[in-house]
Amino acid sequence: MSLSSVTAIAHPNLALVKYWGKRDAALNIPTNNSISINLGGLTTTTTVLFDSALVEDSVTLNGATARGTSHERVVQHLDRVRSLAGVGVRARVDSRNDFPASAGFASSASGFAALSLAATRAAGLDLDATALSRLARLGSGSACRSLHGGFVEWIAGDDDGSSQAEQLAPPEHWDLRVLSVVLSRDEKELSSAGGHEAAPRSPLFEARLQSLDTTLAQVRRAVRVRDLPALLMATEREAVNMHAIAMTSTVVDKPWWSGAFYWQPRTLQLIQAVQQWRGQGVQVGFTIDAGANVHLLCAAGDEDAVAQRLLELPHGASTEILVSAPGEGARILADS
Ligand code: PMV
Repeated sequence: MSLSSVTAIAHPNLALVKYWGKRDAALNIPTNNSISINLGGLTTTTTVLFDSALVEDSVTLNGATARGTSHERVVQHLDRVRSLAGVGVRARVDSRNDFPASAGFASSASGFAALSLAATRAAGLDLDATALSRLARLGSGSACRSLHGGFVEWIAGDDDGSSQAEQLAPPEHWDLRVLSVVLSRDEKELSSAGGHEAAPRSPLFEARLQSLDTTLAQVRRAVRVRDLPALLMATEREAVNMHAIAMTSTVVDKPWWSGAFYWQPRTLQLIQAVQQWRGQGVQVGFTIDAGANVHLLCAAGDEDAVAQRLLELPHGASTEILVSAPGEGARILADS
């Protein structure tokens, strides 16, 4: 096989309607559809080279040799690509994020999106974004949404062949801003995998599933017609709904927990501040993934006003904020 080094880039995505609970844990088939926006301000760059001189895969993540689970997850993904391409050659993988490591933002979505694109091209395959999205999903569920740009819906599907993401609108459709506020750099005590596993044991889980069709329709419509107040309200209620499931889930390996609380005191402080700011006429809303950090959504023209309000909060001056516009899908940077 000819040696070809391929570099791809991808952005992490932020869920407006959350993926929370799996129908099939091995294949990462979710219980429900989800909708996200790609975070154009944060980027993962991944280079893959298949090299017949290697006896095993070599994986470097942010400049350090990957070990343990992170190494295994990449090797497993390369195995999927090798099996699709019918090759047995080992690979060298180098992946870097331009956002701070351990800032509490999952890099697995951008990581597996960039890896899927770079590795398939380097192995001589030319998959379209939908097929790549199915492949990336096997590495990390939410990664399937980072293949497409802008606003994206992951169709839950019933099996490996039908669980894939599709674009709702391209990045230029709506000039929104996401201000990702770093409130905690601590590793969360329950991984998203643990949260997915525990979710169906919440007595509220069935009620969430029943209300999701309405939420999905509200968010799709708000994106289509660029209705910011409707998007903010639907997104905020949805984030709190997901966290209500987490807080009322039975986590089997932590029997001393009554539920999973990802929030910290400053998370709640910011939730309340956002509600207050909206009451004062600022069009801003929040969403929160499986962690303590808060992502604020607003129109591009309100970015400075929102940043100013953040600055005025206790600890505001020392709080790190990462700003994104809607980002493009995964793409090739170099192919040599
Ligand atoms: O893709 P995972 O297994 O890291 O799960 C992501 C879960 C959330 O970020 C909380 C929600 C989502 O849809 O991204």
